[in-house]
Amino acid sequence: MDTPIFDGLKKYVEENNISFHTPGHKGRNTLINWSQYIPWIDLTEVEGLDNLQDPNGIILESQKLASNTFKSKQTFYSVNGTTGSIYIALGAITSPGDKVLIQRNSHKAIYNGIILNRLVPRYIYPNYNKKNKIVTGINPHDVETILKRDKDIKAVVITYPSYYGVCSPIESIAEIVHKYNRILLVDEAHGSHLMFSEKLPKSSIEAGADIVVQSTHKTLPSFTQTSMIHVVSDRVDIEKLKDMLNLYQTTSPSYMFMASLDIARAYMEGEGTSKLRKHIESLEKVIMDLKGIDRVSIFTGDKEDFTIEDFDMTKVLVNIKGMRGTTLEKILRNKYHIQLEMSDYYYGLLLTTLMNTKKDLDLFKEAIEDMIKSEPYEDIRQIDFGMIEPTIEIPIGEAFYREKEVSEFKEAIGKISADYIIPYPPGIPIVVPGEVITYEIYQEILNLSENGVEIIGPLDYNRGKIKLVK
Ligand SMILES: Cc1ncc(COP(=O)(O)O)c(C=O)c1O
Repeated sequence: MDTPIFDGLKKYVEENNISFHTPGHKGRNTLINWSQYIPWIDLTEVEGLDNLQDPNGIILESQKLASNTFKSKQTFYSVNGTTGSIYIALGAITSPGDKVLIQRNSHKAIYNGIILNRLVPRYIYPNYNKKNKIVTGINPHDVETILKRDKDIKAVVITYPSYYGVCSPIESIAEIVHKYNRILLVDEAHGSHLMFSEKLPKSSIEAGADIVVQSTHKTLPSFTQTSMIHVVSDRVDIEKLKDMLNLYQTTSPSYMFMASLDIARAYMEGEGTSKLRKHIESLEKVIMDLKGIDRVSIFTGDKEDFTIEDFDMTKVLVNIKGMRGTTLEKILRNKYHIQLEMSDYYYGLLLTTLMNTKKDLDLFKEAIEDMIKSEPYEDIRQIDFGMIEPTIEIPIGEAFYREKEVSEFKEAIGKISADYIIPYPPGIPIVVPGEVITYEIYQEILNLSENGVEIIGPLDYNRGKIKLVK
């Protein structure tokens, strides 16, 4: 019998890899042993089990408890990940045609939310910290300069913390957004855990955001796809939000997912919080030890970079001198059965959560100690990234729905892209759909690609081809 997906999963599980990737539960149970309840609690909206589309029973009760725990005005569950939560939140705070200020390095879910809700994006660029070769935060002054001049902007969307753990000065940004009477949506996909430790950056829920979306599944022990939408201020129209919840979510939400949100929240009200405290203590020690090892550096912030207000240390960014991040990730998996969340040219990224044990961290440290003795130095060129201003020919939403053609990349100069082109690092799109592939952009992409920088968009997935707007 052919069951390729199940076989692939089983093989991965049998390898016994240590997980420094999502989901946050790391394959471990918390308040219940899930294997005793699956598949029986995979149920539907029968009498007594409420309805996510219009909750007034057990789901409403659970959402109220979550609202209390996460200190929101109201909390809503999403079973379509934070991707779904972003579509819903954007739809709730805007009307079609509105302009929204977004970070150029936003997750694709934000770009897709712009397309779906028929919005017009205006971009704000994050800082690129050359010394550490990492994209850092948003400068609040840049937010103010844009909002002062562009009266059409209805809402601002900030990612906090970034995938790499960087936290922009969110309180200052919130103050500015409200000074100009706009709405602040925070993509806190990577920050559900922040609320539960004083050693971690403040959650944007407590820092002045109007609406916050969180991927509970990434940093707390709930199932993949589970997310929460926290409404924090009166600037958000709750009735419109409910309409959007129904527009963008399945009519058959998984009760296992919803129960896992319920259980993750309950766990964090008790044992989970002390477990997070212990995890942070172990992490502090391991980071200190790793920093003391020759060839190893761990990025934990940069005092001279004022776009970094705080740093989420549960995301461990490891650089080994003379080794690409991508090589580090491969060796860890193949030789040590340790799986990272991701890697780029310079760094490997560990997403650790309270569900990682001290042993996981110790094994990681031992693997690094062993590796740097045996692994040779790679020739790593220092690459500079040029921030090239995009030439927007047609709005992204229009480009998305236009007829498209596939072209050789070298034939694309002067044409309008229907693809995103995103080099990692820095993870900031050089081109998004609707923008022109200028000669300068073409050269930059070739240069990065020849230097071994991974390019998402053309040249990898499409093997040198790119989708263009016809
Ligand atoms: C910053 C950011 N926002 C949103 C998302 C989408 O979240 P989800 O995977 O829960 O749909 C991600 C996913 O990686 C992300 O990194």
